[in-house]
Amino acid sequence: MSISGTDAYDSTDLLPPLVERALTAARAHGFPHSCRPEQGRLLHALAGGARHLIGETGTGCGVGLSWLASGAGEGVRLVSVERDPERARVAAEVFADRPEVEVVTGDWRRIEEYGPYDLLVLDGGGTAKSADDTPADPARLLTPDGTIVIDDFTPAADWPPLHEGAVDLPRRYWLEHPALQTVEIALADDLATLVGTRRRLAGAETTWRGLERGQIVRGVVTRIAPFGVFVDLDGVEGFVTVPELSRHRFDSLDEVVHVGQEVTAEILAFELPRQQVRLSLAALAPDPLTEFARNGLGRVVRGTVTKAVPFGVFVRVADGVEGLVHRDTLTGLSLPEAGDELSVEVVGINLVRRRVALKPTST
Ligand SMILES: C[S@@+](CC[C@H](N)C(=O)[O-])C[C@H]1O[C@@H](n2cnc3c(N)ncnc32)[C@H](O)[C@@H]1O
Repeated sequence: MSISGTDAYDSTDLLPPLVERALTAARAHGFPHSCRPEQGRLLHALAGGARHLIGETGTGCGVGLSWLASGAGEGVRLVSVERDPERARVAAEVFADRPEVEVVTGDWRRIEEYGPYDLLVLDGGGTAKSADDTPADPARLLTPDGTIVIDDFTPAADWPPLHEGAVDLPRRYWLEHPALQTVEIALADDLATLVGTRRRLAGAETTWRGLERGQIVRGVVTRIAPFGVFVDLDGVEGFVTVPELSRHRFDSLDEVVHVGQEVTAEILAFELPRQQVRLSLAALAPDPLTEFARNGLGRVVRGTVTKAVPFGVFVRVADGVEGLVHRDTLTGLSLPEAGDELSVEVVGINLVRRRVALKPTST
């Protein structure tokens, strides 16, 4: 909400005709709280990305809605809810010849009757800005890659964000919402907007089509692509990314699997926009690094150099385990090449970063 939103258009020209019409209605009705032109232009741009449905809470006299409707592509429907019956009537008149736009009179929760939305703008209800305003639930109201917009914040670069000296809880709520990736965008010195996109990859979903995250499934490899492997799970598409194929080092994917092979995998996640199940074969294999870590630290091993890099050389010290000999520790020695044998001591192992640090021994 902007106190002087409607007046902010006094010095603005070149507006879409529908926005002009809504502004005329807002002025005639004496409604000062229309969204500002900076926000309107953002809504116009975001509406262009919506595929089917756009929603808004707090229609006012329809200025924000007219920006949205002007930016939306053909076939996209728009629904906005306004609790003030007179404003809702005025706004409905603005869109009388736009059958794709519906203005609903009532509490903002009526927006729940129409979702899920590709784009949902909260400008009157559902924003969490006051104690009695329950926040809208983006996981339920947005399509899997939908966008939510909450406007009219004072720009704040610090964390946690402050407003009038206290932590700005509504802003923090949206910026940290687990179902969203939210950013704050400064539109003017005194105006910031939050734009949240619903996390694409398996944020909240733990089950899908009778399958469950963590479940072990069998499937058949149908295709090997450079970026991973497709697996048929009885009609549902599974996909294994390259790092999830094996814990062992390999040069080419067909060293690990072949088309037609039956594989057993763990379900990692559901990627609903792609209607795909993310799988891991590696998760079911014993971890060679964990095995090595049990008694590897301090050991002196003779290993084969697998790769020379600018900062040193990688040496295979056990099946599936490689460590780095940093070039600083190689001074005085001729730089080994791939295939050379090297005697090294294991001086560090980090299971979280999956790193093994080695240093050459004199033998
Ligand atoms: C900032 S104004 C909306 C401005 C409008 N979006 C625009 O761009 O012109 C807020 C509007 O939300 C409405 N409103 C506030 N709380 C509401 C609620 N709980 N349900 C529905 N509408 C609400 C108010 O009546 C007011 O018209």
